[in-house]
Amino acid sequence: MQLSLLDTVEQHPNAANRVKELRLQLEHHNRQYYQRDAPEISDSEYDELFRELTALEDQCPELITQDSPTQRVGGAPVARFRAVAHGVPMLSLENAFNEEEIRAKLDARIKKELGLADSPLLTYMCEPKMDGLAVELVYEQGLLTVASTRGDGVTGEDVTQNIRTIRGLPLRLTGEGVPGLLEIRGEVYLSLDAFQKINQGREENGEPSFANPRNAAAGSLRQLDPRITASRPLSIYCYAPGRVEGATFSSQYEFLNVASRWGLPVNPMVRRVDCVEGAVAYYHEMNGMRESLPYEIDGTVIKVDSFQLQRELGEKSRAPLWAIACKFPPRQAETQLENILLSVGRTGVITPVAQLKPVEISGVTVSRATLHNWDEMAAKDIRIGDTVVVERAGDVIPAVVRVVTERRNGSERAVPPPQSCPECGSAVVRIAGEVAVRCMGISCPSQIRESIKHFASRGAMDIEGLGDKVIEQLLSLGLVRTVADLYRLTKDDFMCFERMGDKLAANLLAALNASKSCDLGRYIFALGIRHVGERTAKSLAQAYGSLANLEKTTVEELTSVRDIGATVAQSIVTFFNNQNNQAVINQLREYGVDPTVVVKTVGGRLSGRNFVFTGTLTRFTRDFARKQVEDLGGNVVGSVSRKTDYVVAGEEAGSKLLKARELGITILGEDEFLNLLEQQ
Ligand code: IVH
Repeated sequence: MQLSLLDTVEQHPNAANRVKELRLQLEHHNRQYYQRDAPEISDSEYDELFRELTALEDQCPELITQDSPTQRVGGAPVARFRAVAHGVPMLSLENAFNEEEIRAKLDARIKKELGLADSPLLTYMCEPKMDGLAVELVYEQGLLTVASTRGDGVTGEDVTQNIRTIRGLPLRLTGEGVPGLLEIRGEVYLSLDAFQKINQGREENGEPSFANPRNAAAGSLRQLDPRITASRPLSIYCYAPGRVEGATFSSQYEFLNVASRWGLPVNPMVRRVDCVEGAVAYYHEMNGMRESLPYEIDGTVIKVDSFQLQRELGEKSRAPLWAIACKFPPRQAETQLENILLSVGRTGVITPVAQLKPVEISGVTVSRATLHNWDEMAAKDIRIGDTVVVERAGDVIPAVVRVVTERRNGSERAVPPPQSCPECGSAVVRIAGEVAVRCMGISCPSQIRESIKHFASRGAMDIEGLGDKVIEQLLSLGLVRTVADLYRLTKDDFMCFERMGDKLAANLLAALNASKSCDLGRYIFALGIRHVGERTAKSLAQAYGSLANLEKTTVEELTSVRDIGATVAQSIVTFFNNQNNQAVINQLREYGVDPTVVVKTVGGRLSGRNFVFTGTLTRFTRDFARKQVEDLGGNVVGSVSRKTDYVVAGEEAGSKLLKARELGITILGEDEFLNLLEQQ
């Protein structure tokens, strides 16, 4: 039955009631469809209800509420994700790789710690370990208010808009006893079905496909535009509480049951067992079922069921003692190695890559695998024409594990390391002490391409819109030869680009322009100096304050900077002595690429104070602590001396703590440190 707008209003003069009714119906059908896999109405009937609600809301906008199903994709794109601090840190889990480890690392350890033998009190919850991304959801008075990624466990990113697009997740909790505050953790994932559809679409559009469902889920969750996320049907299963006010639970089992009654999606495959052997059996059972599940799991998680016992056991080194992740063995398949390709990276390293007869390993087609380097290839005696065993473990690039030598027929051919670069023909060298074979050509197209990709990447200049495809077109049209050329581009240059309208071109130019004033650390990282990763680049930025200072430095001076050893120092000096690099840097300067100097907070509350962190920190990460101290004007240094003001000691702190005691330096526990930060 087709409803016109007029019918709707006439039939329901009391629009407010009808709107409420429609919302309840739609949420009910969402649950039936997404959580119970038992739809009661057809897609078109669902769409009909949805359209009716949209029409009513259009007519009476005052009736729109935050939890209306029409508001799942409400938000406008954001420029950046806001940081969100987790109420309770999000921990990770220790791994077990086989049943012996499950018994030893979980059961035996727990019984020892609690001084328990077999006891009816000690039951376990067994859960599939979803291979996705951990998030935290906050429900206030039943309403979903904030959703954030795990981040470093202490602070994550605000992805509320994107999480709201998950149709199986209630925007409002229903049922009895909904608490005032519920923080709940879960895993966002993509079903295999959705993953395949997304990749199909990407291939049709000439976009690179995602390597696995986890990467696709991560890419979708971190979209700045929620409309893109909405087009990627993410799912979620909830599995752990954070802070809760207004409800108590005695066990994980009870918690999951109650959460499910409030409408939250909980994996129906969870099971309570009464001893570790039950958990071992579950692990094997799940490994056997793994290929038939509609989503990826990479193991099981076993948790002590009782929350009281969980509290008694506590945690150590950022992982709880009351739970363990039991990982499945990696999945392997046999196939033919058809060819060995050579790939040239940003720094000229030439890597052998196996071209394989495409083989499916649990839902993902593998046609390439890394062979790492020629030493490994020789050690495994890998030849073209071999039958090989290929392994796909988690999100790592597939690798060739071994050759099935019994299948050889004598026609197989070994490939020696190249004498010259396959891309530019320049001589290759093998530097003493390194396994890598390296192209020395300054204008090698592969190196240029990879260095531009690196320059534009997220941790570097973060130039949105300058993806692989655009870079490849810029290079093939001869518009760009060095990273400096990027800043000369105009709108006209993009005229003949595939799939690049005026709007995209304008956005890209704006992003390039914005990147001119990026942070100095990012800029140093973006230059692609060998051995200089993100962390080192940040240290250099802080120590030198400007690129001009860094350019003039010496090996001796560099080695006095924290974390910088002789090899890195030499590499930096060599980089800046190279005339080509100098020319590019000077051009960048001319185009206004002028990174800001990270000015330390002067006169901050901790100005001039030196901190040393030692031992295992469980309440926060070192990065978090460093940032907090630096934001307040303090310094974090590596070793304890008379100049140290505070030593923050985590668990199992050793010699630094002893030295601090000897020197009479103030020693803080983790909580005391947090208090110090909070003082006004
Ligand atoms: S519990 C302290 N339960 O695995 C408890 N985690 O390796 C922390 N994961 O970061 C998590 N399924 O992203 C838990 N049923 C499950 C899980 C699960 C997947 C992920 C989660 C966590 C990682 C730890």
